[in-house]
Amino acid sequence: MKKFKNKFLVIAVTAFVMLALAQCNKRDNETITYDFEHNLADLNQIQIIGKKIFFDKNLSAPAGQSCASCHNPSTGFSDPQLKTYSEGVVRGSFTNRNAPPLAYLSFSPVRYFDDVDSTFVGGLFLDGRVNTLEEQVRFPLLNHLEMNNSSIAEIVSKVSLANYASLFKNTFGKNIFADTTAAFDAISKAVAEFERSEQVSPFSSKYDAYLAGETSLSAQEIRGLQLFNDTAKGKCANCHPSDDDNDFGAALFTDFTYDNVGLPHNPNATSAQPDLGLGDIVNNSLMNGQFKVPSLRNVAVSAPYFHNGYFDNLNDAARFYSERDVPGKFPAPEVNQNVNKEELGNLNLTVQEIDDIVAFLKTLTDGFQ
Ligand code: HEC
Ligand code: HEC
Repeated sequence: MKKFKNKFLVIAVTAFVMLALAQCNKRDNETITYDFEHNLADLNQIQIIGKKIFFDKNLSAPAGQSCASCHNPSTGFSDPQLKTYSEGVVRGSFTNRNAPPLAYLSFSPVRYFDDVDSTFVGGLFLDGRVNTLEEQVRFPLLNHLEMNNSSIAEIVSKVSLANYASLFKNTFGKNIFADTTAAFDAISKAVAEFERSEQVSPFSSKYDAYLAGETSLSAQEIRGLQLFNDTAKGKCANCHPSDDDNDFGAALFTDFTYDNVGLPHNPNATSAQPDLGLGDIVNNSLMNGQFKVPSLRNVAVSAPYFHNGYFDNLNDAARFYSERDVPGKFPAPEVNQNVNKEELGNLNLTVQEIDDIVAFLKTLTDGFQ
């Protein structure tokens, strides 16, 4: 899994990440251009269609916004603008959570309850309310805060007029557009298959090269990795496992469980109501405030952080884990139930140790050469 399967892909991904990094200071500029969109290397026909849909700005109402507008490859498939809440295609309307990176999401299992650890595992969206990538596709397309279409038929009609419509018909049948339900299922399948492709989960970071014995980490990065893994110090790997000794056979930096890390309310939030996360979905107050553990791959390029985008840099995010429960350091949690106090909150990390952890997190950016 973590081996580079194909030189072509590595070169392509490297090219787009380098371009993206070169543009780093301009991340709030929506017109970044990069090679990624037109690179079809290693994609099968269904994935190619999915990628074209993913980047198609005609699929919003009005036209102008695609999935990639909020999930851009240059930022691990998160919002390329440094915005806490992404703006929908209808100007002035904003999502109520921070747009998460989609890279490595395809490994997420369908949500289930793990009796041993007494926690839910898996599911999509930050509160786990949807199970598969296929099921998920309709939500942003129909959400008035995002792409704002009024019906499935409207979306199918737009795809039937797209410049990839003939490819779509060749793949899914020449009469596919006559059946709205079947056509939308095909759209959903294509997007999901693209999200599962190696272009979205390339395993091409410095850390992957290190695991493969192809490069070494600096002394600081090694210290950061050790603190990250240390169950008596950083404890990060308790929830963001850094090894590939798991069901997925890959270091994903998430175990897809849920936790309430005790984030303060974001004063810029769209709603003043507390966001109960998983608790609301499974109707269980013992899970109020819990959100899915995200992968930390590409985290250095996917600010701001956490479901409510409370932090805009990694240093503050790591400091929060260390000092949340030190009086006077951070505002009280937005949801004061079920806050995890065993694994985070008062880690006593020094400034140097926090810097070391952040240095390690920066090795998780794809496109390392
Ligand atoms: C206006 C910005 C915006 C657009 C456009 C958008 N998304 Fe999202 N996306 C978000 C936000 C915000 C979330 C988090 C929502 C939540 O968890 O409640 C999200 C979550 C997701 C997730 C779940 C992530 C996770 O960690 O479980 C997937 C998958 C996804 N989007 C795919 C897509 C696809 C496919 C499209 C295009 C059809 C799309 N998005 C368009 C903002 C956007
Ligand atoms: C008890 C489980 C747990 C531990 C331990 C843990 N995390 Fe997390 N982490 C989470 C959860 C859950 C979230 C998402 C919370 C939310 O959005 O409300 C998260 C989110 C993050 C994010 C934001 C990522 C993004 O894309 O928004 C960063 C950065 C992060 N963790 C770093 C760390 C570091 C560094 C450590 C160790 C110092 C650590 N975590 C320890 C569970 C944990």
